[in-house]
Amino acid sequence: MSEAELYTEYKGIYLPKHLHPPESLKFLEEFTFRHDDIIVVTYPKSGTTWMQEIVPLIQSEGDMASVLTIPNWDRMPWLEEYRAMLLNLDQRPSPRLFASHFHYSMMPESFFRVKPKVIYVMRNPKDVFTSSFHFCGMASFLVKPGTVDEFLEKFLSGKVMLGSWFDHVKGWLNAEEQGRVMYISYEEMILDLNDSVSRIARFMGKSLSEEVTKKIADRCTFKSMKQNKMSNYSLVPQEVFDQKKSEFLRKGIAGDWKNLFTETQMETFDAVYKEKMKEVKFRFIWD
Ligand code: A3P
Repeated sequence: MSEAELYTEYKGIYLPKHLHPPESLKFLEEFTFRHDDIIVVTYPKSGTTWMQEIVPLIQSEGDMASVLTIPNWDRMPWLEEYRAMLLNLDQRPSPRLFASHFHYSMMPESFFRVKPKVIYVMRNPKDVFTSSFHFCGMASFLVKPGTVDEFLEKFLSGKVMLGSWFDHVKGWLNAEEQGRVMYISYEEMILDLNDSVSRIARFMGKSLSEEVTKKIADRCTFKSMKQNKMSNYSLVPQEVFDQKKSEFLRKGIAGDWKNLFTETQMETFDAVYKEKMKEVKFRFIWD
Protein backbone atom coordinates (compact mmCIF):
# COMPACT_ATOMS: atom_id res chain seq x y z
CA MET A 1 0.00 0.00 0.00
CA SER A 2 1.08 3.57 -0.65
CA GLU A 3 1.92 6.55 1.58
CA ALA A 4 -1.51 8.06 0.83
CA GLU A 5 -3.22 4.93 2.12
CA LEU A 6 -1.11 4.20 5.19
CA TYR A 7 0.15 7.58 6.39
CA THR A 8 -1.34 10.79 7.64
CA GLU A 9 0.58 14.05 7.36
CA TYR A 10 0.90 15.95 10.64
CA LYS A 11 2.86 19.21 10.75
CA GLY A 12 4.40 18.19 7.43
CA ILE A 13 5.58 14.77 8.72
CA TYR A 14 4.32 11.31 7.72
CA LEU A 15 2.84 9.29 10.60
CA PRO A 16 1.32 5.81 10.30
CA LYS A 17 -2.47 6.21 10.54
CA HIS A 18 -2.75 2.90 12.40
CA LEU A 19 -0.93 4.32 15.44
CA HIS A 20 -2.02 7.94 15.30
CA PRO A 21 -5.74 8.57 14.82
CA PRO A 22 -6.59 12.30 14.97
CA GLU A 23 -7.80 11.99 18.60
CA SER A 24 -4.38 10.79 19.74
CA LEU A 25 -2.64 13.77 18.14
CA LYS A 26 -5.13 16.08 19.83
CA PHE A 27 -4.50 14.24 23.10
CA LEU A 28 -0.82 15.14 22.95
CA GLU A 29 -1.53 18.71 21.90
CA GLU A 30 -3.55 19.10 25.10
CA PHE A 31 -1.28 16.99 27.30
CA THR A 32 -0.05 18.52 30.57
CA PHE A 33 3.55 17.65 31.38
CA ARG A 34 5.09 17.64 34.83
CA HIS A 35 8.55 19.12 35.39
CA ASP A 36 9.86 15.76 36.62
CA ASP A 37 8.50 13.68 33.71
CA ILE A 38 11.24 11.81 31.84
CA ILE A 39 10.78 11.40 28.09
CA VAL A 40 12.97 9.22 25.92
CA VAL A 41 12.94 10.78 22.47
CA THR A 42 14.24 8.96 19.40
CA TYR A 43 13.99 8.87 15.65
CA PRO A 44 12.51 5.37 15.02
CA LYS A 45 15.00 2.49 15.10
CA SER A 46 17.54 4.35 17.23
CA GLY A 47 17.17 2.32 20.44
CA THR A 48 13.74 3.22 21.84
CA THR A 49 12.87 -0.31 23.02
CA TRP A 50 16.28 -0.62 24.64
CA MET A 51 15.63 2.57 26.63
CA GLN A 52 12.15 1.35 27.56
CA GLU A 53 13.97 -1.45 29.40
CA ILE A 54 16.83 0.59 30.89
CA VAL A 55 14.98 3.65 32.18
CA PRO A 56 12.23 1.82 34.14
CA LEU A 57 14.89 -0.42 35.70
CA ILE A 58 16.87 2.60 36.82
CA GLN A 59 13.71 4.17 38.21
CA SER A 60 12.88 0.98 40.15
CA GLU A 61 16.54 0.66 41.24
CA GLY A 62 16.84 -2.77 39.69
CA ASP A 63 13.46 -4.19 40.69
CA MET A 64 12.53 -6.35 37.69
CA ALA A 65 8.75 -6.43 38.24
CA SER A 66 7.77 -3.87 35.61
CA VAL A 67 9.95 -5.24 32.80
CA LEU A 68 8.73 -8.77 33.52
CA THR A 69 5.02 -8.00 33.68
CA ILE A 70 4.27 -4.86 31.62
CA PRO A 71 4.84 -4.60 27.86
CA ASN A 72 7.31 -1.90 26.89
CA TRP A 73 4.60 0.19 25.19
CA ASP A 74 2.64 0.54 28.46
CA ARG A 75 5.69 0.72 30.71
CA MET A 76 6.95 3.79 28.88
CA PRO A 77 4.17 4.76 26.48
CA TRP A 78 4.58 6.83 23.33
CA LEU A 79 2.71 10.05 24.04
CA GLU A 80 1.61 10.50 20.43
CA GLU A 81 0.20 6.97 19.99
CA TYR A 82 -3.43 6.06 20.56
CA ARG A 83 -2.63 3.86 23.59
CA ALA A 84 -1.55 6.91 25.56
CA MET A 85 -5.20 7.96 25.73
CA LEU A 86 -6.18 4.68 27.41
CA LEU A 87 -3.64 4.60 30.22
CA ASN A 88 -4.81 7.28 32.70
CA LEU A 89 -1.41 8.91 32.51
CA ASP A 90 -2.46 11.79 34.76
CA GLN A 91 -2.86 9.28 37.58
CA ARG A 92 0.63 7.82 37.30
CA PRO A 93 3.00 8.74 40.13
CA SER A 94 5.97 11.00 39.45
CA PRO A 95 8.35 10.74 37.82
CA ARG A 96 6.34 9.48 34.87
CA LEU A 97 8.28 7.74 32.11
CA PHE A 98 7.34 8.35 28.48
CA ALA A 99 8.63 7.83 24.97
CA SER A 100 8.18 9.94 21.87
CA HIS A 101 9.30 9.87 18.25
CA PHE A 102 8.26 13.47 17.65
CA HIS A 103 10.54 16.15 16.27
CA TYR A 104 11.32 19.02 18.66
CA SER A 105 9.12 21.31 16.56
CA MET A 106 6.17 18.91 16.96
CA MET A 107 6.11 19.01 20.76
CA PRO A 108 3.05 20.60 22.37
CA GLU A 109 2.80 23.90 24.22
CA SER A 110 3.02 22.35 27.71
CA PHE A 111 6.38 20.76 26.87
CA PHE A 112 8.03 24.13 26.22
CA ARG A 113 6.44 25.72 29.28
CA VAL A 114 7.02 22.94 31.83
CA LYS A 115 10.40 21.65 30.53
CA PRO A 116 10.35 17.95 31.50
CA LYS A 117 13.59 15.95 31.28
CA VAL A 118 14.49 14.45 27.91
CA ILE A 119 16.88 11.62 27.07
CA TYR A 120 17.60 11.96 23.36
CA VAL A 121 19.04 8.81 21.80
CA MET A 122 20.86 8.99 18.46
CA ARG A 123 22.17 6.24 16.23
CA ASN A 124 24.37 6.18 13.13
CA PRO A 125 21.82 7.04 10.43
CA LYS A 126 23.14 4.32 8.13
CA ASP A 127 22.21 1.77 10.80
CA VAL A 128 18.90 3.55 11.40
CA PHE A 129 18.29 3.20 7.67
CA THR A 130 19.21 -0.49 7.71
CA SER A 131 17.05 -1.29 10.73
CA SER A 132 14.19 0.70 9.23
CA PHE A 133 14.53 -1.03 5.86
CA HIS A 134 13.97 -4.42 7.53
CA PHE A 135 11.27 -3.08 9.86
CA CYS A 136 9.24 -1.58 6.99
CA GLY A 137 9.28 -5.02 5.38
CA MET A 138 7.67 -6.67 8.42
CA ALA A 139 5.24 -4.08 9.86
CA SER A 140 1.82 -4.12 8.18
CA PHE A 141 1.10 -0.43 8.92
CA LEU A 142 4.20 0.84 7.09
CA VAL A 143 4.80 1.35 3.39
CA LYS A 144 6.97 -1.48 2.03
CA PRO A 145 10.52 -0.26 1.47
CA GLY A 146 10.97 -1.51 -2.11
CA THR A 147 14.61 -1.88 -3.16
CA VAL A 148 17.47 -0.41 -1.13
CA ASP A 149 17.84 2.33 -3.78
CA GLU A 150 14.15 3.17 -3.62
CA PHE A 151 14.12 3.31 0.16
CA LEU A 152 17.35 5.32 0.18
CA GLU A 153 15.79 8.02 -1.93
CA LYS A 154 12.78 8.25 0.37
CA PHE A 155 14.85 8.14 3.57
CA LEU A 156 17.30 10.83 2.45
CA SER A 157 14.48 13.14 1.42
CA GLY A 158 12.45 12.49 4.59
CA LYS A 159 9.54 10.82 2.79
CA VAL A 160 9.29 8.07 5.40
CA MET A 161 7.43 7.72 8.71
CA LEU A 162 8.53 10.46 11.11
CA GLY A 163 10.18 12.43 8.33
CA SER A 164 13.81 13.35 7.95
CA TRP A 165 16.42 11.87 10.29
CA PHE A 166 18.54 14.97 9.69
CA ASP A 167 15.79 17.39 10.76
CA HIS A 168 14.92 15.23 13.78
CA VAL A 169 18.49 15.18 15.09
CA LYS A 170 19.22 18.82 14.30
CA GLY A 171 15.98 19.95 15.94
CA TRP A 172 16.68 18.14 19.20
CA LEU A 173 20.38 19.10 19.25
CA ASN A 174 19.27 22.73 19.08
CA ALA A 175 16.69 22.35 21.85
CA GLU A 176 16.54 25.45 24.00
CA GLU A 177 16.25 23.50 27.25
CA GLN A 178 19.89 22.28 27.11
CA GLY A 179 20.24 21.57 30.84
CA ARG A 180 17.14 19.38 30.65
CA VAL A 181 18.28 17.20 27.73
CA MET A 182 20.73 14.32 27.92
CA TYR A 183 22.25 13.23 24.59
CA ILE A 184 23.40 9.64 24.25
CA SER A 185 24.04 7.37 21.30
CA TYR A 186 23.17 3.77 20.58
CA GLU A 187 26.84 3.19 19.82
CA GLU A 188 27.92 4.41 23.29
CA MET A 189 25.47 1.95 24.78
CA ILE A 190 26.92 -0.84 22.63
CA LEU A 191 30.46 0.10 23.65
CA ASP A 192 29.84 0.30 27.39
CA LEU A 193 26.35 -0.46 28.65
CA ASN A 194 27.37 -0.34 32.29
CA ASP A 195 28.77 3.17 31.94
CA SER A 196 25.73 4.26 29.90
CA VAL A 197 23.34 2.98 32.60
CA SER A 198 25.27 4.84 35.23
CA ARG A 199 25.24 8.12 33.22
CA ILE A 200 21.51 7.83 32.53
CA ALA A 201 20.89 7.14 36.22
CA ARG A 202 22.83 10.27 37.19
CA PHE A 203 20.76 12.34 34.76
CA MET A 204 17.60 10.87 36.29
CA GLY A 205 18.83 11.87 39.74
CA LYS A 206 19.31 8.28 40.91
CA SER A 207 22.38 7.09 42.67
CA LEU A 208 22.82 3.38 42.08
CA SER A 209 25.37 1.05 43.59
CA GLU A 210 27.85 -0.65 41.25
CA GLU A 211 26.04 -3.90 41.89
CA VAL A 212 22.61 -2.57 40.88
CA THR A 213 24.08 -0.80 37.84
CA LYS A 214 25.60 -4.07 36.68
CA LYS A 215 22.40 -5.99 37.36
CA ILE A 216 20.48 -3.53 35.15
CA ALA A 217 23.09 -3.64 32.37
CA ASP A 218 23.03 -7.45 32.41
CA ARG A 219 19.25 -7.44 32.13
CA CYS A 220 19.36 -5.03 29.17
CA THR A 221 21.69 -6.93 26.88
CA PHE A 222 20.33 -7.78 23.44
CA LYS A 223 20.32 -11.46 24.32
CA SER A 224 18.38 -10.99 27.51
CA MET A 225 15.83 -8.60 25.99
CA LYS A 226 15.25 -10.95 23.08
CA GLN A 227 14.01 -13.53 25.59
CA ASN A 228 11.70 -11.11 27.39
CA LYS A 229 8.23 -11.41 25.90
CA MET A 230 7.31 -8.04 27.44
CA SER A 231 10.00 -6.41 25.31
CA ASN A 232 10.50 -8.51 22.16
CA TYR A 233 7.12 -7.67 20.60
CA SER A 234 6.08 -11.34 20.47
CA LEU A 235 2.75 -10.21 22.02
CA VAL A 236 1.94 -8.33 18.80
CA PRO A 237 -0.03 -10.48 16.33
CA GLN A 238 1.81 -11.75 13.25
CA GLU A 239 -0.58 -9.83 10.95
CA VAL A 240 0.85 -6.62 12.41
CA PHE A 241 4.49 -7.57 12.99
CA ASP A 242 5.59 -10.49 10.85
CA GLN A 243 8.65 -11.51 12.85
CA LYS A 244 9.16 -14.47 10.52
CA LYS A 245 10.22 -11.91 7.92
CA SER A 246 12.41 -9.89 10.29
CA GLU A 247 12.56 -9.98 14.06
CA PHE A 248 11.94 -6.74 15.94
CA LEU A 249 15.08 -7.34 17.99
CA ARG A 250 16.89 -8.11 14.77
CA LYS A 251 20.69 -7.89 15.14
CA GLY A 252 21.42 -5.31 17.80
CA ILE A 253 24.83 -4.28 16.50
CA ALA A 254 26.59 -1.17 15.24
CA GLY A 255 27.69 -1.19 11.60
CA ASP A 256 25.19 -3.60 10.03
CA TRP A 257 24.76 -1.06 7.18
CA LYS A 258 27.98 -2.53 5.75
CA ASN A 259 26.03 -5.71 4.99
CA LEU A 260 23.37 -3.81 3.06
CA PHE A 261 24.96 -0.89 1.21
CA THR A 262 26.87 -1.03 -2.04
CA GLU A 263 29.83 1.33 -2.46
CA THR A 264 27.65 3.69 -4.52
CA GLN A 265 24.84 3.72 -1.95
CA MET A 266 27.36 4.51 0.77
CA GLU A 267 28.76 7.40 -1.27
CA THR A 268 25.27 8.77 -1.96
CA PHE A 269 24.41 8.58 1.72
CA ASP A 270 27.68 10.21 2.81
CA ALA A 271 27.31 13.08 0.35
CA VAL A 272 23.80 13.93 1.60
CA TYR A 273 24.91 13.53 5.22
CA LYS A 274 27.86 15.88 4.70
CA GLU A 275 25.70 18.55 3.13
CA LYS A 276 22.81 18.32 5.60
CA MET A 277 24.99 18.14 8.70
CA LYS A 278 27.63 20.68 7.71
CA GLU A 279 26.60 23.28 10.29
CA VAL A 280 26.25 20.81 13.16
CA LYS A 281 28.97 21.19 15.79
CA PHE A 282 28.05 18.13 17.86
CA ARG A 283 30.68 15.38 17.53
CA PHE A 284 28.96 12.10 16.77
CA ILE A 285 30.69 8.90 17.75
CA TRP A 286 30.31 7.52 14.21
CA ASP A 287 31.91 10.52 12.40
P1 A3P B 1 18.42 -3.65 14.53
O1 A3P B 1 17.24 -3.70 13.60
O2 A3P B 1 19.62 -2.99 13.89
O3 A3P B 1 18.75 -4.94 15.17
P2 A3P B 1 13.71 0.94 18.17
O4 A3P B 1 13.42 0.28 19.46
O5 A3P B 1 14.01 2.41 18.30
O6 A3P B 1 12.67 0.64 17.14
O7 A3P B 1 15.08 0.35 17.62
C1 A3P B 1 15.18 -0.99 17.27
C2 A3P B 1 16.64 -1.34 17.10
O8 A3P B 1 17.28 -1.37 18.39
C3 A3P B 1 16.81 -2.71 16.48
O9 A3P B 1 18.03 -2.64 15.72
C4 A3P B 1 16.96 -3.57 17.74
O10 A3P B 1 17.56 -4.83 17.51
C5 A3P B 1 17.86 -2.66 18.57
N1 A3P B 1 17.89 -3.03 19.99
C6 A3P B 1 16.84 -3.20 20.84
N2 A3P B 1 17.27 -3.62 22.04
C7 A3P B 1 18.62 -3.72 21.97
C8 A3P B 1 19.65 -4.12 22.89
N3 A3P B 1 19.37 -4.52 24.12
N4 A3P B 1 20.93 -4.10 22.44
C9 A3P B 1 21.23 -3.70 21.19
N5 A3P B 1 20.30 -3.32 20.27
C10 A3P B 1 19.01 -3.33 20.66
